[in-house]
Amino acid sequence: MKPSSSSPNSTLATVEKIALVLLPLTLVAFICAFNLPDQFRIERLISRGSNISPHAGDGATSAHTPEFRLLMGILTVADRYEARDRLRLLHALQPPVPAQIDARFVLCNVTGDEHRILVALEIMLYHDIIVLNCSENMNSGKTYAYFSALPELLSGEQEAPYDFVMKTDDDTYFRFPELVESLRRQPREDLYWGHEHPAGEKNPLFMRGMGYVLSWDLVRWIASTNVTRNNTAGPEDALVGEWLRAGGRGKNVYSTQGARLNYDDTKPVMYDFPYPPWTFVPNTIAVHRLKDRKKWATTLRYFNATRGLKPSKFYHLLN
Ligand SMILES: *[C@@H]1O[C@H](CO)[C@@H](O)[C@H](O)[C@H]1NC(C)=O
Ligand SMILES: *[C@@H]1O[C@H](CO)[C@@H](O)[C@H](O)[C@H]1NC(C)=O
Ligand SMILES: *[C@@H]1O[C@H](CO)[C@@H](O)[C@H](O)[C@H]1NC(C)=O
Ligand SMILES: *[C@@H]1O[C@H](CO)[C@@H](O)[C@H](O)[C@H]1NC(C)=O
Ligand SMILES: *[C@@H]1O[C@H](CO)[C@@H](O)[C@H](O)[C@H]1NC(C)=O
Repeated sequence: MKPSSSSPNSTLATVEKIALVLLPLTLVAFICAFNLPDQFRIERLISRGSNISPHAGDGATSAHTPEFRLLMGILTVADRYEARDRLRLLHALQPPVPAQIDARFVLCNVTGDEHRILVALEIMLYHDIIVLNCSENMNSGKTYAYFSALPELLSGEQEAPYDFVMKTDDDTYFRFPELVESLRRQPREDLYWGHEHPAGEKNPLFMRGMGYVLSWDLVRWIASTNVTRNNTAGPEDALVGEWLRAGGRGKNVYSTQGARLNYDDTKPVMYDFPYPPWTFVPNTIAVHRLKDRKKWATTLRYFNATRGLKPSKFYHLLN
């Protein structure tokens, strides 16, 4: 007769086996626990999801629930591999923030065999690309395609998978701590946040396309209303302002300009790459129109992005 699996002997053997496996695991867990001297590593996990799922950060403890969740949609096109890599690098090296920021690169239909293979490989490694059902364009409806696709793409577990949704470009550098400091103080509903375009008769209020944020309720509204559907082509940033006005939405306007409509006494904290007499400002949230490596380097040098580089005999780069 074969020993039954529940015989006392084999149960004992199983217990021993489990113990043998658990002991080293427990030791590893202890070592890890003592080597986590601060909360930052956990928050670092929270701040960067690795999957399109909005819950990528949930592995961390609930004591570190992010203050808010932001989907940062970076509109770009397939062949801008370097731009994507640079942003991934910069996002990974940002200081830890108490918010969940999920950066996603947003493409329209990928055409060209080489792009289809190479972008597929990027997706396999980074899980940070969304391909919408549209053909590439800047001002012919891509922004509408982006916002209107999100409720369906992210439908499921939660009423609001994100508190905020951003639209930005791949030539914009965001500083996460400064961004979070501004957004955490904003209402979670009916919010239209960004760098306000100087209003004029021809162009009433809108936030410039370098990076604006809508609360999730407005994203859902854009996807469901007929106010937007027949009005998707045109300068994408001005159009968003137009939709909100037409629908009576976006009442919580926050311009990073601070004192709205008073451009003389507040320095903007989101701006295009500055040429003299303009300069960078220390409390910058975002710099836009970083069109070449030199502009990126100048910007990153000003903001001390390489501050954490450790001295080593293996390289000699700075100074
Ligand atoms: C994709 O867009 C095309 C053209 O606008 C449309 O005909 C098609 O139904 C769309 N497909 C899906 C899956 O939405
Ligand atoms: C995008 O690609 C899909 C799948 O190849 C196709 O069904 C759709 O019609 C395309 N959409 C547009 C707008 O070209
Ligand atoms: C939009 O839809 C509403 C009903 O949901 C309708 O009353 C309204 O006339 C429509 N607007 C336009 C511009 O068609
Ligand atoms: C959108 O435009 C189409 C074609 O011009 C028209 O048939 C339709 O009624 C319009 N819908 C709305 C909601 O304005
Ligand atoms: C960069 O570092 C220098 C030297 O420590 C400091 O004076 C400067 O304020 C820093 N710049 C910013 C934007 O933090």
